[in-house]
Amino acid sequence: MILVTGGAGFIGANFVHFWLERTGEAVVNLDLLTYAGNPDNLADLRGDGRHVLVQGDVADRELVRELLARHRPRAVIHFAAESHVDRSILGPGAFIQTNVVGTFHLLEMVREYWSTLPESVYDQGATQRDFRFLHVSTDEVYGSLAPQDPPFAETNPYQPNSPYAASKAASDHLIRAWHHTFGLPVLTTNCSNNYGPYQFPEKLIPLVIHHALAGKPLPIYGDGQQVRDWLYVEDHCLAIMRVLEAGRVGETYNIGGWNEQANLNVVRTICGVLDALQPRMDGRGYAEQITFVRDRPGHDRRYAIDARKIEAELGWKPRETFESGILKTVRWYLQHAEWVSGVTSGAYRQWVDRQYGGPG
Ligand code: NAD
Ligand code: DAU
Repeated sequence: MILVTGGAGFIGANFVHFWLERTGEAVVNLDLLTYAGNPDNLADLRGDGRHVLVQGDVADRELVRELLARHRPRAVIHFAAESHVDRSILGPGAFIQTNVVGTFHLLEMVREYWSTLPESVYDQGATQRDFRFLHVSTDEVYGSLAPQDPPFAETNPYQPNSPYAASKAASDHLIRAWHHTFGLPVLTTNCSNNYGPYQFPEKLIPLVIHHALAGKPLPIYGDGQQVRDWLYVEDHCLAIMRVLEAGRVGETYNIGGWNEQANLNVVRTICGVLDALQPRMDGRGYAEQITFVRDRPGHDRRYAIDARKIEAELGWKPRETFESGILKTVRWYLQHAEWVSGVTSGAYRQWVDRQYGGPG
């Protein structure tokens, strides 16, 4: 049994599916079901006894204590977070609360639980020696790279620039301290930009697919030359599984796709795939919808990941190329129009209205 937090969000839901398919080991999924958490992402698991979804806050100590005592997981994988940089600029409070305070309360409850586990390897179930707390974090903690800089290694200094990045950096430091001071067996992963099924259409790739099909402008912040490293979400799930299985306690592992792309290039690629799979009725290209808009305040220019540590130590490598991953992703969104319309009503619409000053 493992406990996953934030498993109704984008990466968490992909991970729960991936984990159950690969291992069959039961999952308790603690998720507050914020705007980003969607039980429909797990709809196919309804009635599957291997998955229990519990709506609740990682900062709710009593709930976390009770879940740990009842299910006695052998590992906790911590995905739950506020994850969108633009939202963190408009309202940082929720980011401090969940990513920093929430992680602190969760850590304290996990430390209490872990200290009660038997040490012996002969015991059935979770043991102190084999227990792991895996913290899922981001490359944004390292700040921004100049064009000539080498990619981020695990040894790079932390230089977070956005409220989101600062809140994740703070949580990474808590994880490190709970290991160093209390001996909690932790692992941290810092990953680049994920894309794939179930990503909420406020993030660049699903937003562009959604807007393109709806005939809306495709907003490019600033000059569109900011660079991100893109990784297909299933490759991230595989990396997390490898780190959980074989990562060295107390270590951090950078995860990335060796796939740096300027934003404008990403958007043009999506337009090209859509032109091929679902051409516009008027015969023109989706790229005509590209619109340059005001830049994100403090916009980081470039992220890139040096993934040699996880590759050399754990034998992980991304399986998807950007071309194959983006094709799968666009196909998924075309085949899941109902999912998109479900999540693009209500809270999403209010967010888009605030962002772009008009109906979403
Ligand atoms: P997401 O926003 O899609 O999902 C976050 C999930 O956490 C949602 O289901 C939400 O309901 C849940 N949640 C939020 N606050 C909670 C709370 N207080 N208690 C319990 N659950 C809560 O995020 P994502 O893109 O799936 O990211 C998952 C994790 O991976 C985050 O920690 C993020 O920082 C990290 N990460 C994301 C990316 C990326 O490209 N998306 C890259 C690297 C790291
Ligand atoms: O690097 C890992 C991070 O990647 C994760 O930790 C975050 O949780 C995740 O949201 C993502 O952060 P980004 O800010 O890089 O992702 P986003 O999809 O919001 O933006 C990607 C790039 O595209 C970024 O340079 C901003 C730009 N952008 C974004 C949107 C939403 C646009 O030009 N237009 C847009 O409409």
